[in-house]
Amino acid sequence: MRAYSKTLVLSTFFFILLLLYFFARRDALLKAEQNGGSLRDVRSAVTFHPPLLRDTQQETRRRQKLTKILSGSKKITRKHPKQFSMSISHKGPMHLALVACRNHLEEALTMMKSALLFSNRKIMFHIFTEESIKLMFETRLKQWLDPLSSKFQYIIREITFSIKDAEEWKKIFQPCAAQHLFLPVVLKDVDSLLYVDTDVLFLRPVEDIWSFLNMFNDTQLAGMTLEHEIPNRIFDHHSIKGIAGINSGVMLMNLTRIRSAVFKNSLIPNGVEWKDLLNHFYEKYKNYITWKDQDMLNIIFHDNPEYLYKLPCQWNYRPQHCMYGSNCKGAEEEGVSILHGNNGVYYDDKQPAFKAVYEAIHGYTIEENMFQSLLYPLQTKFLDTVNTLCGRIPQIFLKQIEKTLKKVYEQRVVIHLGHLQY
Ligand SMILES: *[C@@H]1O[C@H](CO)[C@@H](O)[C@H](O)[C@H]1NC(C)=O
Ligand SMILES: *[C@@H]1O[C@H](CO)[C@@H](O)[C@H](O)[C@H]1NC(C)=O
Repeated sequence: MRAYSKTLVLSTFFFILLLLYFFARRDALLKAEQNGGSLRDVRSAVTFHPPLLRDTQQETRRRQKLTKILSGSKKITRKHPKQFSMSISHKGPMHLALVACRNHLEEALTMMKSALLFSNRKIMFHIFTEESIKLMFETRLKQWLDPLSSKFQYIIREITFSIKDAEEWKKIFQPCAAQHLFLPVVLKDVDSLLYVDTDVLFLRPVEDIWSFLNMFNDTQLAGMTLEHEIPNRIFDHHSIKGIAGINSGVMLMNLTRIRSAVFKNSLIPNGVEWKDLLNHFYEKYKNYITWKDQDMLNIIFHDNPEYLYKLPCQWNYRPQHCMYGSNCKGAEEEGVSILHGNNGVYYDDKQPAFKAVYEAIHGYTIEENMFQSLLYPLQTKFLDTVNTLCGRIPQIFLKQIEKTLKKVYEQRVVIHLGHLQY
């Protein structure tokens, strides 16, 4: 009898606890909805139906699935909360360098916005630019600092070639294009750096490409993608000595290693350090005025292949990966991670799929609802591109954004619940 009443008391106790928990959670959800509004925002965003893509049934199913995931708090709370900690990572900042000249201010800011949209780790931007647009940069970035001060810092610098014939260099190479060759020398105190062209857009967190630094073996010091997935196929003016070559629009660099490495080359048998290498190159190639910075990198890594980490093509996805048919398997499988709209495709009508992504991110204002003001307009824009070779499979472009937004949403819910005391 005593054992029986003990059990009764215990189970009543647990029942009451369960009830309390249930009500507390319901309250919490309601409160979260009223408080920050983000939960409500996203819910109303989910019930907003833009014109459907592709097959209606399939799209409806997809949307139902998304709605289920977004409203199914059960699923979210079952997961380990740590996994979704929305707070900015306490690890040191990731360093991102860009070189923006003349009319590339707007494009550069759009690239930076894309980097900030999806990342959870602080970013330090090193902006190299001309005196004439410095002030405009400053004004625009200050507007972002208010909502995003925990997410980024920036330094604006002038174009700097730390080399003895700096003025000569500037005459021969386009100063803006050649700047990134000097980054290991100019940014003396930075250990690792991601350099990107301004016509690049991040479709997933910057920390994802940053983590490739840990995958470098003992000799690798820079990560880049190949210029062509299928060597020597269509345009080969970039390749040198018959190598397919690398594209320098996205360069992940361990600067510490670049500064201390010795580079073999045909000019000096024993090899030289990076900073001297640039001088030698200048002496040897100053008459080949059509050469570009990318050609120089191609020569360097052709002579020192063990220094190069080959990034998969979805980390520097360009029109040539789809305009003659798809030739980037990685993008088909997991979607584009970094989009690179080179040759001006964001501004003409040659590649509407690239333009659609640029315009969606460009038109998004920080702090707006990301589903309503970014994802859905983007999905709608893709309707106009399905007849082009690049827009044929919208998922190649949309997969990573959808994945990231889903994660951001889940993090918000957990944070809201986490703030409430039961
Ligand atoms: C870069 O390389 C140096 C020297 O090998 C190493 O100490 C450092 O941790 C590396 N940085 C990153 C981010 O991996
Ligand atoms: C690192 O990888 C590159 C490319 O695969 C290779 O050439 C090099 O020998 C590797 N280095 C080490 C130390 O294993």
